[in-house]
Amino acid sequence: MTHLLADYRPYPFTLKATALEFHLASQSTRVIARLSLVPKADAGGQDMVLDGGSELELRALTINGQEPDPRMVMREGETLTIRAAALPAEPFVLETEVQIDPSANTACEGLYISGGMFCTQCEAEGFRHITFYPDRPDVMAPFDVTIHSDKPVLLSNGNPVQREAGLARWQDPWPKPAYLFALVAGDLVAISDSFTTMSGRKVALNVWVRPGDEDRAGFAMESLIKSMKWDEEVYGREYDLDVFNIVAVDDFNMGAMENKGLNIFNSKLVLASPETATDGDYERIEGVIAHEYFHNWTGNRITCRDWFQLCLKEGLTVFRDQQFTSDMRSAPVKRITDVQALRARQFREDQGPLAHPVRPDHYEEINNFYTATIYEKGAEVIGMLRQLVGEEGYRKALDLYFDRHDGDAATIEDWLQVFEDATGRDLTQFKRWYTDAGTPHVEMHEDWNADDGRLTLTLRQSTPPTPGQQDKPPRVIPFAVGLIGPNGQEVAATRVLELTEAEQSFTFDGLGARPVVSALRGFSAPVILKREIDDATRAFLLAHDSDPFARWEAGRDLALSALTALAQGRDGGEDYVAAIGQLAGDDQADPAFRALCLNLPGEEEIATRLTASGVTPDPDAIHAAREDLARRMAEAHTDLLAGLYDSMVVKGPYSPDSDSAARRALRIAALGLLNRIDGGDRAEVLFGIAGNMTERMAALSCLIRRGRGQAALTAMADQFADNRLVMDKWFAVQPMAAPPAEAAAIAARLARRPDFDWKNPNRFRSLLGGLAANHAGFHAADGSGYDFTADWLMKMDKANPQISARMSTAFETWPRYDAGRRAAALAALNRMAEMEGISRNLREMVSRMIAAG
Ligand code: ARG
Ligand code: ZN
Repeated sequence: MTHLLADYRPYPFTLKATALEFHLASQSTRVIARLSLVPKADAGGQDMVLDGGSELELRALTINGQEPDPRMVMREGETLTIRAAALPAEPFVLETEVQIDPSANTACEGLYISGGMFCTQCEAEGFRHITFYPDRPDVMAPFDVTIHSDKPVLLSNGNPVQREAGLARWQDPWPKPAYLFALVAGDLVAISDSFTTMSGRKVALNVWVRPGDEDRAGFAMESLIKSMKWDEEVYGREYDLDVFNIVAVDDFNMGAMENKGLNIFNSKLVLASPETATDGDYERIEGVIAHEYFHNWTGNRITCRDWFQLCLKEGLTVFRDQQFTSDMRSAPVKRITDVQALRARQFREDQGPLAHPVRPDHYEEINNFYTATIYEKGAEVIGMLRQLVGEEGYRKALDLYFDRHDGDAATIEDWLQVFEDATGRDLTQFKRWYTDAGTPHVEMHEDWNADDGRLTLTLRQSTPPTPGQQDKPPRVIPFAVGLIGPNGQEVAATRVLELTEAEQSFTFDGLGARPVVSALRGFSAPVILKREIDDATRAFLLAHDSDPFARWEAGRDLALSALTALAQGRDGGEDYVAAIGQLAGDDQADPAFRALCLNLPGEEEIATRLTASGVTPDPDAIHAAREDLARRMAEAHTDLLAGLYDSMVVKGPYSPDSDSAARRALRIAALGLLNRIDGGDRAEVLFGIAGNMTERMAALSCLIRRGRGQAALTAMADQFADNRLVMDKWFAVQPMAAPPAEAAAIAARLARRPDFDWKNPNRFRSLLGGLAANHAGFHAADGSGYDFTADWLMKMDKANPQISARMSTAFETWPRYDAGRRAAALAALNRMAEMEGISRNLREMVSRMIAAG
């Protein structure tokens, strides 16, 4: 069934309060739900439709304590309907009792068991697998939850109000939709701390983990405290309960979940120690802890009217966590890595069969829309809005948003309205960023008039069609530019041009000599920029641009221009190799920035660039081109790189702070290049002595690439056999770093190991995601990557459809390859589509992908 935005109708009953009673048992949990309901005045005479999975076993149902006539109660598919004739016109209490089997729940949605512990995941529509309920975000109520269980730790949302042997009761005074409900029961230990809010209220903080993991939870706690403080300082947002609990679970479909007062996390985003986590892991933990905490205001206090509005909470909360990370770490580096991720995931989505607007208007399965477009492009849209209304306007609009909509289930229209009201700006055209899919292309043309000292920039925008949307009217695009004089000095500081027409010109006067244009500074809009520029000018920008993003981008373009030429059998790379030597040796520049410049674009990105210029990408040629350029970089700058490798060593005990991480990043970037010419000797030494996971993983990956990883892999598996998170890395790195021709076979061999616990989402993602990240391996011409992946997606689909659907995006670029690969990919997609009993989740994904053929 297709759900349409246009079909929205308010629920005809007001839910005043929800009381739940859980009698936990792994195979037969009983759930009693008491819902206090009031028929809405203007909705008289309507039936009451409740959501509830077909697996719920209904044991009792009463209205004001009375059993209704059984003919008044109907179950059909995923709903339970009570006829209007059986419902009082006055406020009433509906009580149901159901029985469920958490031990049989492998989908990690609803109430399930992970590592012997009961836990829940209700967003988006998991609550209907716990009990019958109006499971939609605009139905909100305070919750009163009683848990009966002999597990030592019993948690739910809100504040604890009662605890005795075998029983715990929690009350959450803040009205919330069912998707924010959570329950945890298990043998857990906490590391605890406290936070005093700006108005002086003391909040108890706990990070709950399995016994034995306590020593890896400290960083998560530090991150939580930083997040709470930052949200007070920057957004004026204070926490609103007496306790804040975080729980780490091993089986989790996504990263984490913002349940009110009880955030539940994938353990890989909580647990960290120098021996087990990389710098990247630490940074992600800090960012995701912040993200979920920030949802308390942007998501929980103000939630979404319906799931079409998902970006209202996700785009904004990603934007906020990006701001937080920029404040905690290096802002330029954060911006560059966010743009890299946006291009790798969101641009790819926007250019393929799965493209959809930031606010979609239809879907089959909402879980398929937790995408880079909703999250990351949703955040970019807010960044553009902030540039257009200015810092102060943004602040005013956000204050108004919190003020006006606290307690609401809101829409994108509400969100834009506060900006219009706070700043007076008309956002009619801006709204297209929410409703229109696809990545705009902006062509920039320069006209230099030497007599008048005037530069005219002509900007032309167009957006290619996306599935279901042919016409793309012009959008408002904030286009930040600066001008740099021939001597490298900036002659015009950053100015944000507002492109609103299909074509528009902007002039810069009073220039002594023709400047070089530094365009799309800070990546001011999520667009693809096309300009006439030669490699010498790119090298000039890489040397002189004062805007760190634009400077990095110049180097990136230089690299891509070389790599795309090489991949088509032409020469290239002279300018890049020379420029990169200068930059790498520039001791004034931030090591993290230098590391970013030394890391060549990935093969996927090269393929995307080729496709954009109308060339069919050849994965093997791309792989060879990248290897060739990396080797030439290493040969041209051996001494410099070896010097960096030695001097960037971080002495003393490990610390995950961003300066130390930056030095390690540069050291590893140098190692990765040197590894092309030293046969893996440095990596072997480093693997043996490194005292932190960042360097160990880098060394391991280098060794595998040189075909000498076996001893290191064995050593690591022996040392960390009992550590799931480390073994996940171990499973991922092998198909990822394997020679492309062997990647699928290596993945298949790993899949036969007894510790390939495929029902664990992290383990499954490691192996399948590791293969998908090996571009030439996944797209091997013999179809082995496609077949292996399809086989496992079909198997997983029976256990956990959210995971099979999500991982199927490995195929989303299939239409851009050659006929042989297309046929093999399409055969794999068809095989999945024709599988008997395919889930709604996977069916929607594969049919959208097949439709692009
Ligand atoms: N709201 C969560 C977050 O972004 C994501 C949960 C999504 N879960 C799902 N099954 N679709 O923080
Ligand atoms: Zn979120």
